[in-house]
Amino acid sequence: MPSIPAKPPRLTGEALYAGYESRRVLDGVDLAVAEGQLTVLLGPNGSGKSTLLKTLARTLTPSAGRVCLDGKDIHRRKTREVAQRLGILPQGPSVPEGLTVRQLIGMGRLPYQRLWQQDAEQDARAVREAMAYTDVTEFAERSVDALSGGQRQRCWIAMVLAQETDLILLDEPTTFLDLKVQVDLLELLSRLAHEHGRTLLLVLHDLNLAAAYADRLVMMREGHIVTSGAPEEVFTATNLKHVFDLDAHVLEDPETGSPICVPHKKRGAHRRSQPTAHQRRVS
Ligand SMILES: Nc1ncnc2c1ncn2[C@@H]1O[C@H](COP(=O)(O)OP(=O)(O)OP(=O)(O)O)[C@@H](O)[C@H]1O
Ligand SMILES: [Mg+2]
Repeated sequence: MPSIPAKPPRLTGEALYAGYESRRVLDGVDLAVAEGQLTVLLGPNGSGKSTLLKTLARTLTPSAGRVCLDGKDIHRRKTREVAQRLGILPQGPSVPEGLTVRQLIGMGRLPYQRLWQQDAEQDARAVREAMAYTDVTEFAERSVDALSGGQRQRCWIAMVLAQETDLILLDEPTTFLDLKVQVDLLELLSRLAHEHGRTLLLVLHDLNLAAAYADRLVMMREGHIVTSGAPEEVFTATNLKHVFDLDAHVLEDPETGSPICVPHKKRGAHRRSQPTAHQRRVS
């Protein structure tokens, strides 16, 4: 049984069926994203994680079922209203050519701009803060397409933060980032949830980082949600085998108590062992 979220859900998917032309991907998904929590969606390649995120963010229309944002059908809300409540970073976004970092991040402010009225000071502040958070200020005037993959990824995250929405959906935000920057980013996202009450739904591939930072894990396989709950409940060797077909030991981080998985090595894949004392003597 999925665990019941502590706070009322900000975003729900009810009996969602969605896909592309003749291909059905989501096969009756129910999901409730609880307020002020960091929820991480896990699943193998092609299991439907991005399709689910796009459906929840209204980028993709479900063929059946309903997405509710703050209790109201998301398709009945105005686009600007959705954009002021929900920000999404899709997987592998492409940058318009020649855009500077500041201009890209400034695009996060579009939902607040109207032709006849614009709070330039507030927009500039939001962009400044988002750049500082993600440590991209030094690149502000550089062209985004001239940055490294990791620097560019941080700019995209800054763009979503500049949108200043309560709900943030990020599809593989840690791609291209080195481990230290991944950890820094997850610390930042965790603070946004736990200190600022933001609601986050992320797709991650790093199982151990997911188990360490998520309040709730949702595991998907072949368009279904297999299980969801606190990492301590659902991050088990049995679930990892079922969802990912991964053979792994699950241990406990001695400091935090978070579960950690250590994949089994296949036979023959072991490093060449050191010669035994006997072998050294006879050689
Ligand atoms: N635009 C599209 N048109 C047709 N099929 C698509 C499209 N996008 C994804 N698919 C298919 O839908 C299925 C689910 O894809 P999805 O991108 O949701 O998986 P995912 O879990 O996000 O995988 P990954 O971990 O590789 O990002 C896959 O079989 C994929 O080939
Ligand atoms: Mg994906």
